[in-house]
Amino acid sequence: MLLVNMFGSKWRPLLSALLICAVIFELASCQKDAQEQRTTPGRKPKQNKPKLGKLTNKGPRAATAKPKMKATPAAPAQTVLTQVLNRGKFKKVGETISVQSGDTLELRCRGKPVQWSVPSYLEEDDDGRLRIVQHERYGVLTLVNSTGADTGEYTCYPMYCEDTDCRKEYDKAIKVFVFFPDPHELFVPSSDYYEVVQLRSNWPTVLPCQVTSPEAEVTLHREFPPVEVAVDGTEISFNVKKGITIHRPRPYHAGALFCVASLGNLRQSSTKYMLIYVNYPMAPPAPIILSSSGSVVVGENLQVTCSVVGEQDVGVEFTWEYPGQQIGRPLYTQESISPVGGGATRQQSQSVLLVDEVRDVDQGTYTCTAQNLQGAKSVSTTVKVVPKAKPKKPQTNKTG
Ligand SMILES: *[C@@H]1O[C@H](CO)[C@@H](O)[C@H](O)[C@H]1NC(C)=O
Repeated sequence: MLLVNMFGSKWRPLLSALLICAVIFELASCQKDAQEQRTTPGRKPKQNKPKLGKLTNKGPRAATAKPKMKATPAAPAQTVLTQVLNRGKFKKVGETISVQSGDTLELRCRGKPVQWSVPSYLEEDDDGRLRIVQHERYGVLTLVNSTGADTGEYTCYPMYCEDTDCRKEYDKAIKVFVFFPDPHELFVPSSDYYEVVQLRSNWPTVLPCQVTSPEAEVTLHREFPPVEVAVDGTEISFNVKKGITIHRPRPYHAGALFCVASLGNLRQSSTKYMLIYVNYPMAPPAPIILSSSGSVVVGENLQVTCSVVGEQDVGVEFTWEYPGQQIGRPLYTQESISPVGGGATRQQSQSVLLVDEVRDVDQGTYTCTAQNLQGAKSVSTTVKVVPKAKPKKPQTNKTG
């Protein structure tokens, strides 16, 4: 039931694949939407002057930097994103940082103003733990009572403003991946008991089994039969910020998989991932249409054939438009799939529209639309209907 079988009836698998696809795209765009900025503009700049001790300012820009009007020591000029630690200490952030879950995360980003993006879970579930304040020269993000679920990417976007019109400077965005190691939760919790993941033949698949601690050891497992799946670093790799990536999905990767994380005495399983393999075409179909005759006599039969040659096991769905459609002429189609050539890596999918006992209303344009997961293309042909020849007069038949 979990495996979409592209070998059997063509219709339902394609539809369900499209459905899954739609759900996935929906999720993706939801997440993108959720990444939209939030900022609390226009807070009065606080005149706090943290004692930073000795500032070393040896960056390449230091020499050309204009002398400041007011010597207000902020974070060092070349350090754009910093973590504020206890007792007013600042620490430049690298690619990742760890904050013990329960503790407060405080990030400071230079720019006037800046915008932030946080893991989508935090955006959606605003329970008052996240606070964003813009000061004169920098923005501050504070997250209190943190949990392992807050693990993820935190991004600061410096804004470019002309008068009141501001836009994010994407190329200057600074990202930091923050882990919130939780002694009880090795995996970033997921609200779902299982997730359906589409394995597309032409696209890497990510199983987002993210850990709350960068030290956790992560392995991949199959439910039935219960075996460990090798994470070899080439076919399947693990990235502590992303999870597991299957680089070139194949049908044998399909099934129910989950990750196991271990750290110290703790060993936990992730959400289950239901992997569904979908043969993904390289391109939209290129249908060819052919009618059995360009002009048909009333009462005779007509066949219009639409065919597509494409990759093996890639579903193609055909739809028809024809002249008698408006008045509800009940035509029917016959569909088939057959291998092409000796190599059999390609197949021909075909739909034949059958018009029995042609009438005048059947004259006109026949259009076939072929669709696969990459897109659709239509082709048309016109058919002329000619009246039945009048019975010839008896005397012309006579001979002699
Ligand atoms: C953080 O946790 C403390 C202690 O449980 C609680 O009193 C406080 O209200 C929490 N703060 C927020 C913003 O949730």
